[in-house]
Amino acid sequence: MELNQSQIESIVRQVLAGMDRAPAPTASRPGIPATARVAMLTGQKKIEVKEFPVPALGDDDILVRVEGCGVCGTDVHEWKGDPFGLIPVVLGHEGTGEIIAMGKNVRTDTAGNPLKVGDKIVTSVISCGECHICRMHPAQTNLCDKQGVFGLIGHKEEQPLNGWFATHLLIRAKGATYFNVNDLDLDERMLLELATVCVHAYNRANATGLLNFNARVLVQGLGPVGLMMCAVLRAAGVNRIIGVDGTPRRLEMARRLGVHTTINFKELSTLEARVAKVKEVANGVGADFAFQCTGAPPAAKDIFEYIRRGGGLCEMGFFVNNGSYEINPHFAMCNKEINLIGSWDYSAEDYPTTMAFLRQAREMNIPIKELITHRFPLDRLNEAMETNVAQAGIKVCYIASDN
Ligand SMILES: NC(=O)c1ccc[n+]([C@@H]2O[C@H](COP(=O)([O-])OP(=O)(O)OC[C@H]3O[C@@H](n4cnc5c(N)ncnc54)[C@H](O)[C@@H]3O)[C@@H](O)[C@H]2O)c1
Ligand SMILES: [Zn+2]
Ligand SMILES: [Zn+2]
Repeated sequence: MELNQSQIESIVRQVLAGMDRAPAPTASRPGIPATARVAMLTGQKKIEVKEFPVPALGDDDILVRVEGCGVCGTDVHEWKGDPFGLIPVVLGHEGTGEIIAMGKNVRTDTAGNPLKVGDKIVTSVISCGECHICRMHPAQTNLCDKQGVFGLIGHKEEQPLNGWFATHLLIRAKGATYFNVNDLDLDERMLLELATVCVHAYNRANATGLLNFNARVLVQGLGPVGLMMCAVLRAAGVNRIIGVDGTPRRLEMARRLGVHTTINFKELSTLEARVAKVKEVANGVGADFAFQCTGAPPAAKDIFEYIRRGGGLCEMGFFVNNGSYEINPHFAMCNKEINLIGSWDYSAEDYPTTMAFLRQAREMNIPIKELITHRFPLDRLNEAMETNVAQAGIKVCYIASDN
C-alpha cells in the first residue's frame, strides 16, 4: 500500500494524539508499582480479583495506596442485583489510604490544606458543576443530578483504578474532592463517610431548633447508620436518646454508645406498647425529634406515632426505593404540626465538620470504632457482602493486606 504525504502526516498525528490521551505506563517509576489489583464485580454476586497496569499519572492526578474501605449498604445492593447497571464495576466508596504519587498541579486538598506524598487521604463526592443545583444552589451539591463518587463509576479501560476495593486508587475526575486526614486513625477514616451521612442529617434536623441538651430524640433502626446517628447526637450534647431495633447485639451497641433507652420492637411487639414506652421516657407526650434510619416502610409509617405534637422527623432511611406506606395526614402530620426533614447523602463541605465530630467522639470516649466488627482482605469480598446481608455484625470493612 502506497501512502501520500498527507496520509502519513495524518497517521503520525493520530498516533501522537493517542499518546497524549493515554501515555503508556512507564516501566520504572520510583515508588509506583507497575500494576494494581482490584476486586471487580463482574456479575451478580460475583467479585473477582483482577490486575491492571497503573496508568501514567496526569498533572492533576493523585495515586493512593489503599489501606481500607467500609462496605456500604449501597455496595451490597449493587452486588445483589446491579440496580445501578454498573457491572463490571470496582465498588468501595468509603475508603482511605496513603498518597504515593501526585501530579505537579496538586498542592492542597479541597479544604485548602497542604497535601504531599505520604499523607493520608479520603475522597468525597464528584459534583458535575453544570446542573441547576451546582450552578444555582452551590450549598446543596449533595443534590447534584449527576453526583458521583469513586466506587460507583463502573469499569473504564483507560482508568481502571476508580473504586476503593483495590490495592490502589487513582483520583482522576473533573470535580473530584478529597481531604487530608492525617490526624485520624485507620478505623476513624473508614467510618468517616458513614459519619458524614449522619452529620449532614444532624445539620438538617438542627435547623428545626428542636435538638438541645434536654431533647428526647428517638432513633429508629440501629444499623450502621442509626448507631452512628446516635453517636453524632451524643457528641452534639443530646443525651436522652431512645433507640429502636430488633437485634440484641445492635441494641447493646447503642447502649455502649450512650443511648439512654432501648426498645426491642420484636419483644415489644405492638405499636401501642412501644408508643407507651416512648411516652414514659419522653415527658409523657412523645419524642421531640425522631430520625428514621430503617429502609422498612412499616417502620417509617409507625414513627409518626412516637413523636409529640410540634416535634420533628428526619427521614434518612430510604437511600434506595423500598416501596411506600400510607399515613393519615390529619393525625400524623397536620394536627401535630410535624417539622419534616429529608436528608440525602452529603456535600464535600460536610467532611471537615465530620472530621471535627470524629475528634470530638474520641475526646468523649464514645466507642464508635467498636462499630467495625468484620475485616476482609481483597480476595474475600464476596464473603464480606454475605456477612453484611446476614447482618452478622455491624460495620464490615475491606482491609488491604499490608495493614
Ligand atoms: N440518607 C442517606 O444519605 C443514606 C445514606 C446511606 C444509607 N441510607 C439508608 O439508611 C438505611 C439504614 O442503613 P444501614 O446500613 O444502617 O442498614 P441496616 O439494614 O444495617 O440497618 C437497618 C436496621 O433497621 C432495623 N429495623 C428494621 N425494621 C425495623 C423496625 N420496624 N423498627 C425498628 N428497627 C427496624 C434492622 O433491625 C436493622 O438493624 C438504609 O435503608 C439506607 O438506604 C441513607
Ligand atoms: Zn456509603
Ligand atoms: Zn451538578
